[in-house]
Amino acid sequence: MAAAGSAVGLGNIWGFPTQAASNGGAAFVVVYLILAFLLAYPVLMAEFTLGRHAHGNMIAALAKVSRNGTQRGLGTLVGIVGIFTASLILSFYAIVSGWMIGFGAAYPLEAAGASATATWLSEFGLLRNLTLMLIFMILTMAVVVGGVEKGIERWSKRLMPALIVTLMALSIYVLTLEGAGKGLAVYLVPDITKIWSTELIFKAMGAAFFSLSLGVGTMLIYGSYVSDDEHLPSLGAQVALVDVGIAVLAGFLILPAMYVAAERGVVIFNEAGGLLSEDTLIFVVLPALFDSMNQAGTALAVAFFGLMSIAALTSSISMLEVPVAFLVERFQWSRFKAAVIATLIVTAMSSVIVLNFDLLFGLVITVSTRYSQPILGLALCLYAGWVWRRDILLKELAKNELETEPTLFMRWWPWYVRFVCPTIILAIVARTIF
Ligand code: TRP
Repeated sequence: MAAAGSAVGLGNIWGFPTQAASNGGAAFVVVYLILAFLLAYPVLMAEFTLGRHAHGNMIAALAKVSRNGTQRGLGTLVGIVGIFTASLILSFYAIVSGWMIGFGAAYPLEAAGASATATWLSEFGLLRNLTLMLIFMILTMAVVVGGVEKGIERWSKRLMPALIVTLMALSIYVLTLEGAGKGLAVYLVPDITKIWSTELIFKAMGAAFFSLSLGVGTMLIYGSYVSDDEHLPSLGAQVALVDVGIAVLAGFLILPAMYVAAERGVVIFNEAGGLLSEDTLIFVVLPALFDSMNQAGTALAVAFFGLMSIAALTSSISMLEVPVAFLVERFQWSRFKAAVIATLIVTAMSSVIVLNFDLLFGLVITVSTRYSQPILGLALCLYAGWVWRRDILLKELAKNELETEPTLFMRWWPWYVRFVCPTIILAIVARTIF
């Protein structure tokens, strides 16, 4: 549940649908789905198995499977880049999550007559962005201080179904509105000629890695908390299915909503035909939608932004957990001290982004999610596939096999992370750079 809570977040509702809308619609969806199952799921399994085997953070896990000093040294480097990437991702994630909280609070305030405050909370502004980001970081820290298991698992279990139901209700409503059909067609009818686009494939890979929280050690740490009685391959499959399912469901809301808004005169495309201000668009389109629904609109808006804030929180804690677990395990710091210091550092990074928004926001997203995450994923595959001794890996995988015969997964996966995953990642990154 905690891993599913980490996977399901802004990537599903804010990231995936808007990127699909601006990168060829259904063509992006097709490539994303292929990469999610054929590339991201096996990498997720690499993180889970490495984590459970080592019962520790990424640096400790890579050291444990290493067979010489060079491998251990490189593993430490990979782990450090992972910690840095996780912090970088949290630093932009907290900004967008803050907007979710802002909108969630703006609707009841508006209804209560405090419309000046409501407007301040929902309009782009330096002080508002900083304040909301800070609130979100404090919330994240508070949960991480309390520990991962109990609170988060319980929250995820109850709120995930609520999120799914709200998304479904909203998309059904949107599909009855004028213009929705156009959005639906863009989402569902692929333009085959675009599927081979280098840019599209590269972005879809980043989206898949982001959505499943891969590369930085988040899932590895969660794997380290999983008991030996659990069957890892089905655990991973459940996480991937829930995550991809919610992303696809969100697409049925966001894309039609964009075209409904366009039908009503909201400008969503620039002259080149690309999507206008991709990162903030849903914060224009969705409120316009809620406003068109009168009283029910306010209730749905509160439900939607409230649930999104919580989905963001169950993701952000899994990012902060990366530096915190490292500090606790490596330096024996208390959880409290580690969480406070990591939060201070990430908040400082995030403030720099807010203060230089136009320059840094998009750049940080590209570097951390489209380059860093897949390349770290590649490194993890190399450690799981080449460095780790095969017999020990197989024993780790077989820990909970009831059958004595090796399963399909056990026969294919070690070979697959060894050859196929690295090749796909390298090919996509190389094609993009060159
Ligand atoms: N997967 C989350 C989402 O879709 C974001 C996330 C959580 C994440 N932990 C991560 C992304 C670690 C990268 C790395 O919103």
